[in-house]
Amino acid sequence: MAALRPISSLSSLAGRTAVVTGASSGLGRSIALRLARLGAYVVCADLSPVSRDASLVPTHELIVSNGGSGAFAEVNVTDLASIEAAIALAVAASPRARLDIMVNNAGTIGHQADAPNLGIHTEQPAFAQNVFNVNLMGVWNGTHAAVRQMLTQEPEKLPADEDVDVRLGDPEVEGQDGPRGSRGSIVNMGSIHGMVGGPSEAAYSASKAGVINLTRTVAIDYAKDRIAANVVCPGYCAINMGSKPTDPEIAARRLTPWPHRGAARDVANAVIYLVRDAPWVTGSVLAVDGGTTAD
Ligand SMILES: NC(=O)c1ccc[n+]([C@@H]2O[C@H](COP(=O)([O-])OP(=O)(O)OC[C@H]3O[C@@H](n4cnc5c(N)ncnc54)[C@H](O)[C@@H]3O)[C@@H](O)[C@H]2O)c1
Repeated sequence: MAALRPISSLSSLAGRTAVVTGASSGLGRSIALRLARLGAYVVCADLSPVSRDASLVPTHELIVSNGGSGAFAEVNVTDLASIEAAIALAVAASPRARLDIMVNNAGTIGHQADAPNLGIHTEQPAFAQNVFNVNLMGVWNGTHAAVRQMLTQEPEKLPADEDVDVRLGDPEVEGQDGPRGSRGSIVNMGSIHGMVGGPSEAAYSASKAGVINLTRTVAIDYAKDRIAANVVCPGYCAINMGSKPTDPEIAARRLTPWPHRGAARDVANAVIYLVRDAPWVTGSVLAVDGGTTAD
């Protein structure tokens, strides 16, 4: 294997800690790996360390075997205490007893496993309730617990705040607007189906719309405390959620202006932008969708 390229200090998340829920598979796995690659200690939180593709090395093992740092935490996002325990693990690993980054990514698919979902008249109440519990209550739990921890921490500069070069015309940040820094950054995983309706996904779309407005509200409430909260809304990615391929009829209705579908790393890059490079971005809803919602 080729040696990993070194990371500049301005791109590094060394010394920062993160919790990523749903880190065993799909987008969460990619986000966790990217955070660890940049030097963060990553708590990979999921129901099980085994990926949906059981042939894959568990995320935390891959991180550690490549020289990164992190651990697995058994978390069910519907159980607040399990999320609090994962955050405690991150805080214990932090050189400054902090949780810097919380990514509430875990989610469950919007299509019923055992019956076709042709619209809300075919959605089973127990199915819808589970979607709300995992996708919305899970994000509420993760955000609630992260904010409670972050409020106990002092603001710390992000790498982007250090990257000030007055010779190139950057204003001298400290001198101009006082001290910079953030108590922490929360990224919640929405979906473009929280921004616009998703075909035959009433419960899923409602849960993701809830995630968006929960996050906006948290952003307003805690901006004064320098806690950032943003939503990333992936569009139609090449990887499917859950274990079932998307119904071909529904897949045909999922169009992306960009010539190809998104990859997990496209979503991971958006998360890195928010938690590392964008200290003043809060309350934003970032579509990562190849232009689908612009159409
Ligand atoms: N893949 C896409 O195209 C896409 C598009 C838009 C939004 N999203 C969102 O991105 C997020 C991740 O999706 P994905 O495609 O990686 O899905 P995935 O099914 O590949 O992975 C989801 C992960 O979450 C975990 N998880 C599920 N329920 C959990 C629970 N109760 N507690 C803890 N962990 C739990 C699963 O074990 C799994 O590892 C979800 O919130 C999803 O709604 C995905």
